[in-house]
Amino acid sequence: MRKFVKFAVVVVAFAFIPMLAVAQQITLVHTITGMPLDLSLSPKEGRDTPAVKEFLKTGHDPYVGVESCLHEAEELFLTACSGCHGHVAEGKLGPGLNDNYWTYPKNMTDKGLFETIYGGAKSMMGPQASARTMDEILLIIAWVRHLYKGPVDDAEWLSEDQKAHFVAFDPDNHQPETEEVECEIPAQ
Ligand code: HEC
Repeated sequence: MRKFVKFAVVVVAFAFIPMLAVAQQITLVHTITGMPLDLSLSPKEGRDTPAVKEFLKTGHDPYVGVESCLHEAEELFLTACSGCHGHVAEGKLGPGLNDNYWTYPKNMTDKGLFETIYGGAKSMMGPQASARTMDEILLIIAWVRHLYKGPVDDAEWLSEDQKAHFVAFDPDNHQPETEEVECEIPAQ
């Protein structure tokens, strides 16, 4: 009987391995070194939100283009990034993030941009790994994408449908949301 129990435990344990494997299907690497990123540095809360789960499976940030999430996304960007990258990501101490020139072309993908923010790049571009939750980083990415004012054809992160409906950000006509709206990702 003991033997059977042991056997059963082993069988059950093995059954879980493929489940763990599918939870993360993309490999995140450091922008400069190419080494795998250590996701255990990330604060525990915000590691398994629906958006993070989808991102780790597909490499796509489901917050991009989701209007109801932009308010929170903007606040995070203003707190964590605008001091160096400018109020509307026009560039300051750090490069502009709202045009179609990228020092690291992989930042044109959500996965690449996540890697740069999470792991950092050179000099003053420090890692946000433990400073922001993974969910917050995905929100920040959505705001960076929202600020884009380059040619829509170069916006590789947008689907064809998103490109067709793209409206470039206009800082002169931007009023930050005053009402709290619930950030909700539409069902796929
Ligand atoms: C202390 C200043 C500082 C802060 C804060 C900072 N950055 Fe940077 N960032 C830089 C500098 C400097 C570079 C250039 C580094 C390089 O070329 O490797 C950079 C580079 C980048 C790049 C690469 C751009 C490209 O052309 O490929 C991205 C993307 C980026 N930062 C996003 C962010 C985001 C998003 C935040 C907020 C979470 C942030 N940064 C916060 C200074 C900063």
